[in-house]
This record gives sequence, structure tokens and C-alpha cells, in this order.
Amino acid sequence: MLKRTHTCGELRSRHIGEDVVLCGWVNTYRDHPNALFVDLRDRYGLTQVVFNPDHNHDLHTESKKLRPEFVIAIRGKVCPRPEGTANPKLATGEIEVMVDDLHVLNTAETPPFEVADDTDVAPELRLKYRFVDLRRRPMQHAIMFRHKVFQIIRRYFDDNGFIDVETPFLTKSTPEGARDFLVPSRLTPGTFFALPQSPQLFKQILMVSGLDKYVQIVRCFRDEDLRADRQPEFTQLDMEMSFVDEEDVITIIDGLIVRVFDEALGVKVELPIQRLSYREAMDRFGTDKPDLRFTMELKDIGPIAERSDFKVFKNVLGKGGQVKGICAPGAASMSLKEINDLIPFVGDFGAKGLAWFKVEGGKLVSQIAKFFSDDLHGELIETFGAYNGDLLMFVADQPDVTAQALGELRNHMGKKLGLVKKDEFRFCWVVDFPLFGRDAETGRLDPLHHPFTSPAPADLDKLESDALSVRARAYDIVLNGIEIGGGSIRIHDQSVQERIFRLLEIDEESARAKFGFLLDALKYGAPPHGGIALGLDRIVMLMLGLNSIRDVIAFPKTQKGTCLLTDAPSPVDDAQLKELGIKLT
Ligand code: AMO
Ligand code: AMP
Repeated sequence: MLKRTHTCGELRSRHIGEDVVLCGWVNTYRDHPNALFVDLRDRYGLTQVVFNPDHNHDLHTESKKLRPEFVIAIRGKVCPRPEGTANPKLATGEIEVMVDDLHVLNTAETPPFEVADDTDVAPELRLKYRFVDLRRRPMQHAIMFRHKVFQIIRRYFDDNGFIDVETPFLTKSTPEGARDFLVPSRLTPGTFFALPQSPQLFKQILMVSGLDKYVQIVRCFRDEDLRADRQPEFTQLDMEMSFVDEEDVITIIDGLIVRVFDEALGVKVELPIQRLSYREAMDRFGTDKPDLRFTMELKDIGPIAERSDFKVFKNVLGKGGQVKGICAPGAASMSLKEINDLIPFVGDFGAKGLAWFKVEGGKLVSQIAKFFSDDLHGELIETFGAYNGDLLMFVADQPDVTAQALGELRNHMGKKLGLVKKDEFRFCWVVDFPLFGRDAETGRLDPLHHPFTSPAPADLDKLESDALSVRARAYDIVLNGIEIGGGSIRIHDQSVQERIFRLLEIDEESARAKFGFLLDALKYGAPPHGGIALGLDRIVMLMLGLNSIRDVIAFPKTQKGTCLLTDAPSPVDDAQLKELGIKLT
């Protein structure tokens, strides 16, 4: 067997004259009258290898049976490319290998799609034939880049004294707001393990155990509706520290971000990273994950709307609602149809309509302009600092609807108007979250982060009397409008933890059944502690300027949570069900 001496990305002019062996896949072949050229591919690159009939007649004949994706080994001599045929786009473009020996290691059927950089192949086909898809250079790049980022992270945490500890996958439910994936137990029929939504409880217990600084790059499992930035199993950089406050956790992550972006991309992230309170983020951007690559901030125009004759606005204000708007720069050139298409867009987020004005000749122009006096026109223009050619858009509704509808509209317009630059990275920390929200359907309190997050000490006595005003010691980190991480300082006092469970209407019995081990651990010397988890798939996706985390995961699931490669999930034998004591309905 021919053993390779070099990779397909390695040979340069300095190797000319050497006898080499290369192994790889036939990327393309070109059958010229005077020779057959193969671009041989492996993960390191491409090298042109030449079967020349004048050099070796039999080999040239044999080479004609090569087809794309055949796996071959060749031995030959490194030669300079003939005058004028060097390929500056290829790292190996100055040389070619004149073949003296060919071994076909394996043939290949015609692949279902070409192994090309650009592809418009259906995503389903790419996932079904993932082994072919992963041969494409952008996929190889993403997988290798991901590896690089992970190594930088591991080195960083090791340098900072963190201990990597593995936590179990077969465990109890760890609530992070999604459904659990369950695994039936054969040895104890009728009982189930849950796959962890995160290692939250174990990392807290590791702090009680005195590990002091824990880190893990870990798979998490959440049965939730999937989107471009969500997978049912995904990877977190999970960490926890003892005897710390918010600043210590934020400082460690700031340092990590600086190092990862510098070493993996050569991008210098400047510290400090901007901080916004939850309230400010909601007021100014309509979301707790603002995209700060452009401004277009939301403005409350209630006081102006109040003095107008526009019934729609006045009715909403009369019912305790809000009127807020954004100014889209240069968007007055949009056609009436384009503007009208935005109405169903905001409608999806609950808005009952979208009022708008074009700014023309220093005035506001639209069908509803007549309901506003000249003075009010002036005040609106001034509020937004609007210029001729801008488009003002308003939603009147309850605060949660105006925030969401305008926050989404702002992101949409930012993309549509080309205000976001692709290679710009804008981080922010969002802090001062409320501890609870209220579930619209059940009317119950819901933790905004998770039930183990510590309330702000100053708000402790408001827990029972005014729960919604209690602030959390929680923080999120956001990059370009996507939440890349979240964490908190935890409750380390058992009695506070029990009060939180009570507020969440988890009765004592089920609190014991679900989290008894945590409550016990908190009784036996739990230090103050806190931490964070970062979504690594999302971070790698953003660093590479991609739109879906599927493109940075080797074997992702579809939108429906299935794996097209293996055809999982799939039915199982009756015998297997019987063994588990499970009957299907
Ligand atoms: P949280 O639930 O905020 O916190 O998760 C942390 C980060 O994980 C990423 N993420 C996801 N990525 C891909 N697919 C998903 N389905 C998905 N869900 C979450 C996000 C998110 O910011 N235990 C806490 C952390 C802590 O308090 O220390 C936790 O899991 O980027
Ligand atoms: P109507 O009087 O319902 O025909 O609405 C007049 C204009 O106001 C239309 O452009 C609607 O899209 C807009 N509109 C209606 N309801 C709202 C609302 N809640 N917020 C903002 N604009 C609205």
C-alpha cells in the first residue's frame, strides 16, 4: 500500500524534484488531449496531479476510469507548472505532481450533489447525505474552525484555574424552560431519566463540594420548537465559580471573548463591553437582545399623540396603552405595497396596525397626517431627528406588544436597509433583569432565567408582597441581536430557595421530589456561587457570519427534530418495549 508522504495542501515550489505520495478524493478531472488532470482533494487542500501519456502511457489509459469522489493514492514527482499555468488562487498552485503510480483505494457512486463550495441543493438532501456535504470546503472550514474555538476556550479556562468536570446525561429534569427528553429505565420499570436541559444543578453541587471553579463544554438537550438558532441538542460552554459576584463572572467571560475573537479571527474586541439594563434595552430596542450594529431606537410619542386628533392612538392611550415608533432612514422611497406588507409582519407580533408617515420637504406625509397639527409634525420630526426621505412607523398597543412588534420591525428594517455590516461584532451585557415574569396563559409567576437565580438582596423583603418588581442577579450576553449566553448569581440559602419554589407554586412535596438533592446540598455548607453558560453553536455561527447553527454542527437535526442521516427517531421492536414495560397508545 502507498503511504502518504504529504497532504493535498502541502506541496510548494520548494518540494520540486521530490518523490511524493498523496491520498485523497478525485475532486474534478479534466481529460485534455495531451494529458488527464485530476484535482486531488483532502481536508488540507487541492493538488493538481497529472497523467501524461508521454510520461507513462499505461497509467494515462488507466486514469481515464477515474470519476469524481473516487478515493485514490498516487506516487509521483513534484514538478513546476508549465510557464503561464500557475494558479495563484490555490496554495499548491505553483506545482503539480507527475504521476508514476496509481492505486484506486475505492470507487464511488455518482454523488447526489457536487462537492462544490457553493450549493443550492435542498437542505434535506444535504442532511441525508451529510457525509458528502461535510466534504464541501465551507463545511470543513466550519468544523475545523469550531475545533479551534473549542481549543482556545479549553486553554483559557485551564490557564485560569478551572477544573473540567463531566456531569451525567442520565439524570433528573433540570428546568430551563423547555420540555425534557425522557429515557425509560429498564431496571426500574415505570421510571424515567431525563436528559439534562443544562448541567445547572450539578454545577451548583460541585460548588458545594468545594471544586471552586468548574468548566465543561457540554451537550444540553431541550425538547422545544426549533429555529435557525435552536437545536434539540446543542453545546454549551458551562461554568461556575464560588465566592464571586456578577463582576467576577462578567470579567472572566470578557477575557474569554477577547481571547477567542483575537486568536480565532484576529478581531480585537474592545473592553469594557457595553452594559444595558433590561428596562433600558426594552424601552430603546423593544427586546432584551438588542442588535447594536445600528441605532433606529424606539421612541415613546404618547405625549404628542395625546394632543392629536388621531382616534386610533388616543383610544389606546385612553386604555393605558402606549404609542411608540421608529424612524427608518431613507425608507420613504418604499412603495405603498412594500409599506402595507409590513402590517401583517407586525401583526404576527400582536400589533393591530401600523401607522406611518413619510418625511418630505420638512413635513409629514400620509393619509393620517391631517390628524396632526403642523406643530405636532415638527415635534415628531424633532423627536426622531428625522430627515427628508425617512419613514416614521408607529404601533399603539399595550407595552409588551409595542415592544415586540417594533423590536422585530427594527431588526427587519435594519437588514432590509442594509444597516448591518456582516463582519461587525457588537456585544452587550444585559443586566438588572426582573426575577419573574407572569405567564400570559396560566397567570402564574415564571422565572425569567431559572428558579435557582438569586433575587437582589435589597429586594428580598418584596418577594411575597411585590414579586414582579424583584430584580434578579442575572446577566445575559448578546452579540449582534442574538443571545449568546446567560447566567446568574445563585441562591445559596436553602430558605430563600424554598420561598422561590413556593412563589412558583411548586409545593413542598414536589419541590422535594424534583430538587430535594439540591435543597439538601444547600443545607450542608453551600458557598455563595454563580456562573454562566454560553451557546457555542451560536457563537461559532456568528463568528463565521452564517445564518443557521446547522452549518456549524456536524450532524444536526431538521426543523422537525429528526436526523435524516440515521432516520432517528424511529419505532422500536415490541420486545424492546416490553422489556421497558412500555405500551404504546
Ligand atoms: P440558558 O438557558 O440561557 O442558560 O442557556 C445558555 C445559552 O445556551 C444557548 N442555547 C441554545 N443554543 C442552541 N439551541 C438551543 N436550543 C439553545 N438553548 C439555549 C443560548 C443561551 O444563551 N443553566 C443556565 C446557565 C447558567 O445559569 O449558568 C442555562 O442553561 O446561547
Ligand atoms: P383604521 O382607522 O383602523 O383604518 O387605521 C388607520 C391607520 O392606523 C391604518 O394605517 C392602520 O394600519 C393604523 N393602525 C390601526 N391600529 C393601529 C395601532 N394599534 N397601532 C398603530 N397603527 C394602527
